[in-house]
Amino acid sequence: MLDATDPRDEGERLGLDELRALQRERLRASLRHAYTHVPFYRAAFDKAGVHPDDCRELADLARFPFTTKSDLRENYPYGMFAVPRERVRRIHASSGTTGRPTVVGYTENDLSLWADMVARSIRAAGGRPGDTVHVAYGYGLFTGGLGAHYGAERLGCTVVPASGGMTSRQVQLIQDLKPGIIMVTPSYMLTLLDEFERQGVDPRGTSLRVGIFGAEPWTEAMRREIEERFAIDAVDIYGLSEVIGPGVAQECVETKDGLHIWEDHFYPEIVDPLTGEVLPEGEEGELVFTSLTKEAMPVIRYRTRDLTRLLPGTARVFRRMRKVTGRSDDMVILRGVNLFPTQIEEIVLRTPGVAPHFQLRLTREGRLDALTVRAEARPDATPEDRDTAARAIAAAVKDGVGVSVAVEVVDPESLERSVGKIRRIVDLRPRG
Ligand code: DLL
Repeated sequence: MLDATDPRDEGERLGLDELRALQRERLRASLRHAYTHVPFYRAAFDKAGVHPDDCRELADLARFPFTTKSDLRENYPYGMFAVPRERVRRIHASSGTTGRPTVVGYTENDLSLWADMVARSIRAAGGRPGDTVHVAYGYGLFTGGLGAHYGAERLGCTVVPASGGMTSRQVQLIQDLKPGIIMVTPSYMLTLLDEFERQGVDPRGTSLRVGIFGAEPWTEAMRREIEERFAIDAVDIYGLSEVIGPGVAQECVETKDGLHIWEDHFYPEIVDPLTGEVLPEGEEGELVFTSLTKEAMPVIRYRTRDLTRLLPGTARVFRRMRKVTGRSDDMVILRGVNLFPTQIEEIVLRTPGVAPHFQLRLTREGRLDALTVRAEARPDATPEDRDTAARAIAAAVKDGVGVSVAVEVVDPESLERSVGKIRRIVDLRPRG
């Protein structure tokens, strides 16, 4: 199935017309599966006056109702499952922040599909059978660790299931076991960078050649920083538990031009986050997914709250999504201006004198929200360098985003480090 000159699997070698035909067929089957086996979908379709048979073309999907995170919460734990619980082989939970968690389930076939999609992703990132893969995504209910793990095994790699945390040991393992590939959140990669430096080990001198980074938004500036400091290729992997986990979309190492969505299994749409209207290719909006082949927990038009754009395929036939700008929940509205942590990341990372560690503190002054960017000084920065950096960041935010923020350049190593998904925004506003 695979040969050395063409690393694509069968699904990736479809022509565009074949792909659309396959999607049409799978979409109809998935709608029928959801309607027949999940009372929630039956009620939702009936209420919207649509039936799976109404979906003849891919565009007909727009007539079907959306599914949201709160629908999943209300049907906690097993209400969204389309198979008897006995056929469910594994449970994961999404990294819910507040309130009831949401759980997701996988049949044996779902687990196999997931492993195939992560294997495909690692291959697109430049991994090959025989590579050693260091997995520093957390293992457990989070899909990152086990998702990466079984995908790497499926590809024929040697897996080091390091999980998150115990940072000094991670550095040791990387030196001793000599992985070619690391899978980890970009923010934890920066924590590892500090640790390499603390131990006096040159991070550019390791066996690593590719990093597969995801589970949180990260920017082109962060890519440059990581590639430069570790002398590796850094590529983006995207996914969410509700759709399957990591391995929904992946950037190809040879192009690094956005993430190809594995749309033979996960059908994407971009919608206007306010009106829900489907937007044309190239326009930014909220990413929505419909699973085409999942058994245990099909999702129909699931609203991810992630903001991005769809673009035509390049290195693969599948459409690409741009790097995620942010989640609609992480958008800060300051005096009418929308601001995402990724915009601040771009600015902090290009400012001399500060390290790539920052935090956003949201407070209320009178009736207005205020934002303080706290960025960490580089160890060698003088007090003057710090002042210059603070002024440069404030000016760049004013120019680039169009809003005034306060900036504090704090001492090296004073901001909390990530061991998994980083929380950029610290909301100190009074509740209520
Ligand atoms: O984070 C799955 C994953 C694990 C993806 C490891 C990649 C690597 P959840 O915990 O359900 O699943 O969180 C999903 O994380 O809706 C996005 O907001 C965010 N996210 C995931 N990947 C990316 C990425 C996993 N590459 C939520 N860029 C998603 C930006 C990402 N945001």
